[in-house]
Amino acid sequence: MTVLVLGGAGYIGSHAVDQLVEKGYDVAVVDNLVTGHRQAVHPKARFYEGDIRDKSFLQSVFAKEKVEGILHFAAFSLVGESVEKPLKYFNNNIYGMQVLLEVMEEYGVKNIVFSSTAATYGEPEETPITETTPQKPTNPYGESKLTMEKMMKWCHEAYGMNFVALRYFNVAGAKENSSIGEDHDPETHLVPIILQVALGQRDSLKIFGTDYPTPDGTCIRDYVQVVDLIAAHILALEYLKNGGESTAFNLGSNTGYSVKEMLEAARKVTGKVIPAEVAPRRAGDPSILVASADKAKAILGWQPQHTDVEDIIQTAWNWHVSHPKGYNDKK
Ligand code: UFG
Repeated sequence: MTVLVLGGAGYIGSHAVDQLVEKGYDVAVVDNLVTGHRQAVHPKARFYEGDIRDKSFLQSVFAKEKVEGILHFAAFSLVGESVEKPLKYFNNNIYGMQVLLEVMEEYGVKNIVFSSTAATYGEPEETPITETTPQKPTNPYGESKLTMEKMMKWCHEAYGMNFVALRYFNVAGAKENSSIGEDHDPETHLVPIILQVALGQRDSLKIFGTDYPTPDGTCIRDYVQVVDLIAAHILALEYLKNGGESTAFNLGSNTGYSVKEMLEAARKVTGKVIPAEVAPRRAGDPSILVASADKAKAILGWQPQHTDVEDIIQTAWNWHVSHPKGYNDKK
């Protein structure tokens, strides 16, 4: 029986494929390589290049593979871009989920672990955020992921499909041996941008806003290491296989770090000056996003190993130093 990883050539998906293969699962990957990298996919996984919205393509994969469960990472995920181009997000994310659920139903595949996001909560009413905090997205990306969660819920009720929605907070870092890591173009995320400055690839970090209602005025986020994040996916898959109830889990660390604290931590890890300048707020950034991950710990038995933010940054730094041009270095 096979685990099918959709979006398995992306940053997070490639870490999932890697960990599944290392744990002895039989793995097949679908990716359209729009944002993913073929080199990121573990050589022991079978790779199908194509788009999940292409129903006949997806059916052909399900016809070839005996799929016992799905990890679904195939989506666009940039908040700012989603505000500019909502239809791009609704088409890829929501319509992609529609086709996937149709094909799952057709082939009798019951279990799906889904990449959801803290962005489904919007500007939260409470901190830390729990799974019952109201979901009120403030951008089309978050809206698309919330809609995808709801689609799975209705298919659960109608067709008996089982799902776990994993709501990620800020994912960072790389596999410990640096064989895979984060390579986005354009890069918009804080940790890789700070490290690109440390490498001299950018002049300075722009700190987006220093007038937020936080102790140092910069936004606070909850950082989770990508290898730990993926461990939760495998636990969720096993939970579903063992008859676990369909539900959602936050994946974070219960601890928040400000942009300035992340910069300081990166200076310590890299030993570099890392110039920074104050810039205007970025539209749509909530001031504080911190997860309560107690539910994932209690029900899935999730135990993140990288609880120190310097340790998370260290794994990212090792990847950036060894792959200064990302996967292009290895082409
Ligand atoms: N930031 C800067 N300068 C930069 C980049 C980021 O100051 O050059 C700040 C942002 O303003 C924010 C923090 O660093 O306060 C983190 O920003 P990221 O872009 O790294 O991450 P986000 O919190 O915006 O987004 C992440 C995921 C999204 C997800 C969101 C949930 O990348 O996919 O969390 O809110 F939707």
